[in-house]
Amino acid sequence: MSEEKQTAEKQPSGKRKSKKLVITGIVVVALVAVGVGMMVWHEQPSFCSTMCHIEQTYVDNYAQDQNAPGTDKYGHEVSNTNAMMAVLHRSTKATAKPELVCVDCHVPNFVELAHDGMNYVSGSYPLPRDERSASGLQSWDGKTGESFCANENCHVYLLGDDGNLSYAKLADSTKTRAFNPHEQHHPNLSLECTDCHKGHRASTVVCTGCHEHENVAIPDGWLTYDESESLMKETFPGAQAA
Ligand code: HEC
Ligand code: HEC
Ligand code: HEC
Repeated sequence: MSEEKQTAEKQPSGKRKSKKLVITGIVVVALVAVGVGMMVWHEQPSFCSTMCHIEQTYVDNYAQDQNAPGTDKYGHEVSNTNAMMAVLHRSTKATAKPELVCVDCHVPNFVELAHDGMNYVSGSYPLPRDERSASGLQSWDGKTGESFCANENCHVYLLGDDGNLSYAKLADSTKTRAFNPHEQHHPNLSLECTDCHKGHRASTVVCTGCHEHENVAIPDGWLTYDESESLMKETFPGAQAA
């Protein structure tokens, strides 16, 4: 048996060799095709909702018309969908890519996907979802919350020489406004981008929790601190106020 095998290996007929090559070739081509197909599909928002039907909420949320009345991830009305960063960024002239998809913001991390998958299968992935912060989303990659928005692909102009977000540049970017929401007047508030900029619900100017609303411009569709708080209490009645 082994002798026979040896002979066969030592003197493979040309035919056998080319047959092997053809089969290997087909397998490689098939694997590459599946791989490329998965890569291309994974880029599409439909991948997220097909793999996990709960994501449909987020796909519908993202797919809404820009600069129009719409709804948030919880079903609340939003007077201007541009107040939701996922909608605002979906199609943008400001970046090299004409259309941003889910995985541009939510860069896949396999440990995170496995964790979410387990939760999904075991039923501990209910709707409405608990809201995640940028630092929570980035923690899977060991990155800072700011890097969710300011990184080498997005809002790169806000990065300092050390490659991290520069709060001075951030404040500078909106300094012409009567009330600058990025002014670093109270560093002890230690706010995250997602404390104000919400992905799938109306963003909120949290400064209005203390500063008179009349002096603070509330961009179209955005909420005041109080409005945002009551929306979350309505959505999660049992939860403690943040
Ligand atoms: C206190 C609330 C608040 C926080 C925290 C905040 N922003 Fe903003 N940001 C705003 C508001 C309000 C605007 C104005 C939006 C508008 O007019 O549509 C804005 C606008 C922007 C813009 C557009 C600026 C322009 O050129 O008009 C960028 C980019 C931005 N923010 C990035 C960030 C990043 C990155 C972070 C986190 C490091 C962050 N923001 C944190 C409230 C905030
Ligand atoms: C512009 C960036 C951006 C895009 C594009 C985006 N998201 Fe998000 N996503 C966020 C942010 C920010 C949060 C944090 C929660 C929030 O602000 O609503 C989030 C949160 C989530 C969460 C966690 C649950 C929660 O509500 O906190 C899920 C699930 C999600 N997004 C799915 C998607 C899917 C699916 C798509 C594509 C259809 C998508 N996202 C597109 C920024 C984005
Ligand atoms: C917890 C309440 C509170 C919050 C939240 C808050 N502020 Fe203030 N802010 C104050 C108080 C009180 C003062 C006056 C005392 C001082 O200067 O610190 C003040 C003063 C300021 C000043 C100095 C000029 C002025 O108007 O008096 C600026 C600028 C400022 N805040 C910006 C902000 C910005 C931007 C935010 C949101 C990122 C914010 N504040 C959120 C309480 C707050």
